[in-house]
Amino acid sequence: MEKLLIKGRSDLKGKISISGSKNATLPILAASILSNHAIIKNIPMVKDIFTMVELLNFIGLKTRIINKKKTIEIKNIEKNINTLAPYKLVKTMRAGVLVLGSLLTKYKKAKVSLPGGCAIGTRPVDLHLFALKKLGAKIKIKDGYIYAHARNGLKGAKIKFPSISVGATENALLAAFKAKGKTILKNCAIEPEIKDLIKFLKKLGGNISLKGRTISISESQTKSSKIIHNVIFDRIELGTYMIASALLAKKNLTIDKIEPNIIKNEINVLRKIGITIKKKKKSILIKKAKKLKKINVTTKPYPGFPTDLQAQLMVLLTQANGVSKIKEDIFENRFMHVPELKRMGANIKIKGKTAIIKGPTKLTGAEVMATDLRASVSLVLAGLIADNRTIINRIYHLDRGYEYLENKLKNCKAEVKRV
Ligand code: UD1
Repeated sequence: MEKLLIKGRSDLKGKISISGSKNATLPILAASILSNHAIIKNIPMVKDIFTMVELLNFIGLKTRIINKKKTIEIKNIEKNINTLAPYKLVKTMRAGVLVLGSLLTKYKKAKVSLPGGCAIGTRPVDLHLFALKKLGAKIKIKDGYIYAHARNGLKGAKIKFPSISVGATENALLAAFKAKGKTILKNCAIEPEIKDLIKFLKKLGGNISLKGRTISISESQTKSSKIIHNVIFDRIELGTYMIASALLAKKNLTIDKIEPNIIKNEINVLRKIGITIKKKKKSILIKKAKKLKKINVTTKPYPGFPTDLQAQLMVLLTQANGVSKIKEDIFENRFMHVPELKRMGANIKIKGKTAIIKGPTKLTGAEVMATDLRASVSLVLAGLIADNRTIINRIYHLDRGYEYLENKLKNCKAEVKRV
């Protein structure tokens, strides 16, 4: 099994270019079931994307990945279509459940494996099913599968989500696309990735508007012409490298291929901690702070501070002066990186949903275990600032979502090696 070896304390310098967003690409790939011919550009070459493409192939779409161009071409020639998402593909990547909305819209039926829990919590799909039922889908759960059908097509409805969910908003959008009449979705997630999905659906012919947390969709017809879409940048990858730079960039490090306005809140949090960030139109310059200040942060749906950056922020706060607190308000079990960080010398206590971080503490290299995607990358950050060598096991988690991680870090003079 592959491991990552990191020799800590090298200064980072140079430039990092941010890849396309995994979390935007996945629902757009699910949406491509609705199109005849789509070309999607700026996709990250990471495992989760390949799994979703495998699922599209299984369903019967024709896909062609052009690696060098980070582009995928998808054709639906309507031959040998399988309206099934099998367990083996959905269990490794929960976003597989997003094909449910598209399959119901296009083929009026679907059988999709329940994704089950994962390392960060139980992660149910009740909100997805709640919205689909309101749109008129008949749903049955049997043998670990969701059986859904809408023989006469779905019908527009007014739906208010009891709580905010990214995936449920995406599935509802895909299901409402051709629903008769008008659909109004309230209390939606409004992550930039959802806005990117709406942009794609509009190119496909969607009559969709977004105001606050309300999305309105009028019965839409799909355009038969080819659609071309450029996926938005990965704001979580950006946040991760901003934190790496805040810890280790003696001189300005440039991070480009981004839109700073999309991550205003993250920039504010880092500035409050004492980090100097210069915003440009499509890039930022960031530099290590002389002294890091403590802060209290709670994870929230966008535009709040993202849960997907919580573990990385915690590593930064091990170096801040005083007692910082991070409250994890999205997932119930997302502190698995804490025992590993403690083994490296961090002073962190968990009280319910809150991690209390006392800093600054010197971290020292150790052999550690990656448990999920974002927890793994927090261990990479810890390894980069620790004395001596850190060995990270189970790095397949990293490969699910970080494109060319070692290369990007090595280009900035970090000492990272995969063995
Ligand atoms: C997406 C992101 C993930 C991110 C998360 C929150 C993708 C592929 N993944 O995951 O990286 O961490 O948003 O920003 O985009 N919930 C329910 N019932 C449901 C659905 C969700 O109770 O039917 C709960 C979840 O358990 C969680 C909360 O709602 O506590 C938010 O989850 P959700 O926004 O749905 O996350 P995902 O779409 O799975």
